[in-house]
Amino acid sequence: MNYARTAVIAAAAGALLLLAGCGGKGGDSAATTGSPSPGATAGASATASASPKTTPSPSPSGSATKTPSPSSSAKPSASAPSSPTTAKPGGEDALQVVAKPDSITVLVNKQYALPKEYEPSDLVYPNVAFTFSEKLPKRMMRKEAAAALETLFAGAKKDGIALAGVSAYRSYATQKTLFDNYVKQDGLEKARQYSAYPGTSEHETGLAIDVSGADGKCAATDCFATTKEAKWLDQHVTEYGFIIRYPKGKDAITGYQYEPWHLRYVGVDVSKAIAAKGVTMEEYYNAVPVNK
Ligand code: DAL
Ligand code: ZN
Repeated sequence: MNYARTAVIAAAAGALLLLAGCGGKGGDSAATTGSPSPGATAGASATASASPKTTPSPSPSGSATKTPSPSSSAKPSASAPSSPTTAKPGGEDALQVVAKPDSITVLVNKQYALPKEYEPSDLVYPNVAFTFSEKLPKRMMRKEAAAALETLFAGAKKDGIALAGVSAYRSYATQKTLFDNYVKQDGLEKARQYSAYPGTSEHETGLAIDVSGADGKCAATDCFATTKEAKWLDQHVTEYGFIIRYPKGKDAITGYQYEPWHLRYVGVDVSKAIAAKGVTMEEYYNAVPVNK
């Protein structure tokens, strides 16, 4: 079954209800056998009146030979759409609410929003360097992601690369403040190319982190792309269960411009599968495209 197609149809239909997009400067500053069912996207409940009869559960665009990861094996649940006038939790073009926000493989983007009150329950402080010294929530990540991050930083160090975290977990409120500030600074159209509307940021999952070199230079800015740290990340993150979530030239698919610093934890099986295919997370789950 092709839930993605359903999602796209839903998106197209829902587009009639859209006013404008919304979207965060990254800044605030399955092996193979992995399942391609992004646990989470599964089960989205539509918020647009023209919602699909069945809710999308992105399935991997690849072969069906992969086996589901434990956290993402659930089929999508088709829940009744909310009233068309219900606020769209993830912004005006987020038409679906993910059913399994706790899944490590949850797909969150401009079409798939987190439930309004979502807060991860297992946030911890990874024992890695950050570009700031305060013990702020933006240091936190979900337990599994935090452990993987510690291993990644240690691996980088062995290769002579000193990394630092810039911004990891953000609450809905924090993302809203950030997004609103970027809109004030750059206007909505530009802001949404690099900043996620509250409710639709991967940072709210506790599975994403912006990373820089230890000196913090070029943190979450375009010049990071040419640094040795960015090159190391590009070559090695998949070994640790992360992906570079917003690759260069894939804006029309991911909905965001290139962010070589934004790492998303998906687990080693999925990260390796995505890397092997050379695709975005949207493509992997056959949930493309997210039009900007
Ligand atoms: N910069 C990414 C898209 C975010 O705001 O989550
Ligand atoms: Zn980010």
